[in-house]
Amino acid sequence: MSAVTRLPEPRFDTPPASPQAWLHDWLAQALEAGQIEPTAMNLATVDAQGRPSNRTVLFKGFYETQLTFYTHYTGRKGEELGGNGAAALCFWWDRLDRQIRLEGEARPLPEAVSDAYFAGRGRGSRLGAWASEQSRPIESRTQMEDKLAAVEERFAEQEVPRPPHWGGFGLTPRLIEFWQGRDNRFHDRIVYTRTPAGDWTLSRLQP
Ligand SMILES: Cc1cc2nc3c(=O)[nH]c(=O)nc-3n(C[C@H](O)[C@H](O)[C@H](O)COP(=O)(O)O)c2cc1C
Repeated sequence: MSAVTRLPEPRFDTPPASPQAWLHDWLAQALEAGQIEPTAMNLATVDAQGRPSNRTVLFKGFYETQLTFYTHYTGRKGEELGGNGAAALCFWWDRLDRQIRLEGEARPLPEAVSDAYFAGRGRGSRLGAWASEQSRPIESRTQMEDKLAAVEERFAEQEVPRPPHWGGFGLTPRLIEFWQGRDNRFHDRIVYTRTPAGDWTLSRLQP
C-alpha cells in the first residue's frame, strides 16, 4: 500500500474569506500526488421524487466558477440534472488523506464549450458518444458493437460532430467543504457556504 502524505495546510488555522484559491490548490496538488485518477469525483443527483443516485465522473476543469464534467444529456444523470439541477460532488484523494465535498446547481455548459471539448476527444470516443444511449438497457455486447459499427459507417471519412444528446455540465457550488484526515480520526473540516449576495460564510465542523 502506498504511503499517505499529509501536506501542511495552514489554511485550517486561518481560513481565507473565499474558498476558490484553496479549491484550485488542492486540485493541483492531487494531480501531483500520484493518484491513479486524481480528477475522479463522485456525482450525486436526485430524481423528481427526491431519490438520490450517484456515480463517478471525471472533473474536466473550470468554466468560470463552475466545475465541469461531460456526459450524455439523455442518460439517467443527464435527465435528472436537466430536471432539477440539484447535484453534489465529492473528491477523495487517498494519497493525501483529503476529501472535498461540493453541493450546488448543475446546468448544461454553453454549446460552444461542449463543442470545443468534444472536438479534442479521440475519434473512438466521439463515435462511442453517438453509439451509446447511456443508461438504456441493451440485449448484448454484440448489439452494442453493431451500433458502433453503424456509427462508424455513418461517419466514414468525415469529422464526427458532437451529438446533440452529449455535452458538459457545470456545477456552481453553494457549499464547499475541505476535509483533511488527521491522527486518531481527529480530522480538520472547514465548510464554506455561499450567501445570496455571493459572499462566503465559513465554519469549522467537528470531525
Ligand atoms: C473512473 C470513472 C470515470 C468516469 N467518468 C465518466 C464521465 O466523465 N462521464 C460519464 O458520463 N461517465 C463516466 N463514468 C461512468 C459513470 O460512472 C456512469 O456509469 C455512467 O455515466 C452512467 O451513469 P448514469 O446511468 O447514472 O447516467 C466514469 C466511471 C468511472 C469508474
